[in-house]
Amino acid sequence: MIDRIDALLAEARQELSGARDEQQIEAARVKYLGKSGSLSGLRKSLGSVPAAERPRLGKLVTDAIAQFETLLEEARQSIGRREMDKELNREKLDVTLPGRTRRRGHRHPVSQAMDDIVGIFARLGFHVADGPEIEWDLYNFEMLGFPPDHPARDMQDTFFLDPGSQPPPPPGSPPTKGAMQQLLLRTHTSPVQVRAMLAQKPPIRIICPGKVYRSDSDPTHTPMFHQVECLHVEEGISMAHMRGTLDAFAKAFFGPTIQTRLRPSYFPFTEPSAEVDISHPLCGGKGCKLCKGSGWLEVLGAGMVNPDVLAGVGYDPERITGYAFGAGIDRLAMLRHDLDDLRTLFENDVRFLEQL
Ligand code: DAH
Repeated sequence: MIDRIDALLAEARQELSGARDEQQIEAARVKYLGKSGSLSGLRKSLGSVPAAERPRLGKLVTDAIAQFETLLEEARQSIGRREMDKELNREKLDVTLPGRTRRRGHRHPVSQAMDDIVGIFARLGFHVADGPEIEWDLYNFEMLGFPPDHPARDMQDTFFLDPGSQPPPPPGSPPTKGAMQQLLLRTHTSPVQVRAMLAQKPPIRIICPGKVYRSDSDPTHTPMFHQVECLHVEEGISMAHMRGTLDAFAKAFFGPTIQTRLRPSYFPFTEPSAEVDISHPLCGGKGCKLCKGSGWLEVLGAGMVNPDVLAGVGYDPERITGYAFGAGIDRLAMLRHDLDDLRTLFENDVRFLEQL
């Protein structure tokens, strides 16, 4: 009996040390301590040993069972530790690793130019005005002096909107004028001039940056681009005010050494009209390949608001005068960053934009 106790204990110890999980430990418990378990069996067989031996052997069996229970507990704990180690390893966090740095972005060059322009004009006393990108022909063309069949309309390839998709005209405006009910994507920011003059009385000093659309696409033209419109109408405004403002703007935007000059031009909504050149910022006006040796670059269109436009919005052109100009913001941004392909500004390739 004593040999049998030792053998069973040795066997159980071996089995528990090889146990990998709770189920194997439970299986060992049933095998040795269950109803028909081998250690429990020893207790039953005590009945068949001589009565004199029974207390001694009985104690040995009880001790053996107690020992086995201790072994069981140890095995359970060691599995628990192993599980915990596994878990800790899986969740290991190396707090000494360098952090993931977040890449800093910056304003898009066109937005930067737009903000700068608005800032410069705000300091000169101009307010930001806004208008819709989907515009009436009436404001985009008609009231700016482009009659329906006037060749000046060919200057701008227009995206007209499908008449079927047009919402009903907003209540009160625009006045019904047959074909002039046509909606389009505005081809320039100049219709904001008309809207501003219809909405308020002079003096008006506004600056309006925004998106405009033309059916055009090549290295220097994209179907969508940005313009900024400037309008100043008030009693006693002359071309000298326009020159002074343009000159102040060019110096503030490109640098204090920049010169400006006006050349005669034509726009239906200004009279007289001018193209405005600046001395080339890159060669300092000396002349280089980029400015074709002239030392000058054309940057915007300007002029004195046509008296017909003023009369059209109900102003008295004998008393009220004003100047206006419109500039391509993307072109100004390109000049600043010395870019030669306008399209790169809108492809939004971060590798390119990062360099600016
Ligand atoms: N709207 C013109 C264009 O898109 C630019 C322009 C010229 C605007 C003269 C003006 C202006 O306000 O007076 O080409």
